[in-house]
Amino acid sequence: MSNELFEQLDFVENPLFESIIEDLIHLKYSVVDGFFSEVEVQALRKNLMAKYEEDRFKKSAIGNRTNEEVDKTIRGDFILWIDENKTDIAEQFFFKKINELVQYLNRTCFMGILEKEFHYALYPKGTFYKRHIDTFQNDDRRKLSLVCYLNEDHWPIENGGELTLYLNKTPLDILPILGRMVIFESQLIEHEVKEVKASERLSITGWLKTR
Ligand code: OGA
Ligand code: MN
Repeated sequence: MSNELFEQLDFVENPLFESIIEDLIHLKYSVVDGFFSEVEVQALRKNLMAKYEEDRFKKSAIGNRTNEEVDKTIRGDFILWIDENKTDIAEQFFFKKINELVQYLNRTCFMGILEKEFHYALYPKGTFYKRHIDTFQNDDRRKLSLVCYLNEDHWPIENGGELTLYLNKTPLDILPILGRMVIFESQLIEHEVKEVKASERLSITGWLKTR
């Protein structure tokens, strides 16, 4: 069988991925509830908490890894990078779905995503991340930013910690509720994390990158 024919037979349209692509084309961002299953999200949440309690997180920095500095007036979260070669079961399910999305994007939109990087993040009460863009001056490989929220089921508005996307006209506030995933174009969308007023704000954040 020719490769081309095999590729066509092998392709199954995925409605969830299609709706993400539609959103990205028209809005430059997408908000998806239920990208991961309830069980997956709970397992990832447990993971995050366990690793945080083992004191493995470090104060986040600004700038990229070769050029970073800690500045609490800009961002106050604690992070732990995830090594895709040393994953546990919950992380394996996480990367399985992310890799499916990457393959789909590369195949249907020719996005040329070859690398990715993800970290856990925890924002203690009183912390925030000021308005910024996710690409660096000396490195524009980040194409898509992904944030998956791992908070408890109930996240009232009074808790703060909204992700605000600065779009053309009115800014959009997105509540970081359990299992919600936000995807947006790293080079285009300025955004911020509003101050967390109660509780701790948990997430996995990452980037899909070209080489
Ligand atoms: C980031 C970021 C958004 C969020 O880590 O760069 O903007 O909602 N995170 O956690
Ligand atoms: Mn950001």
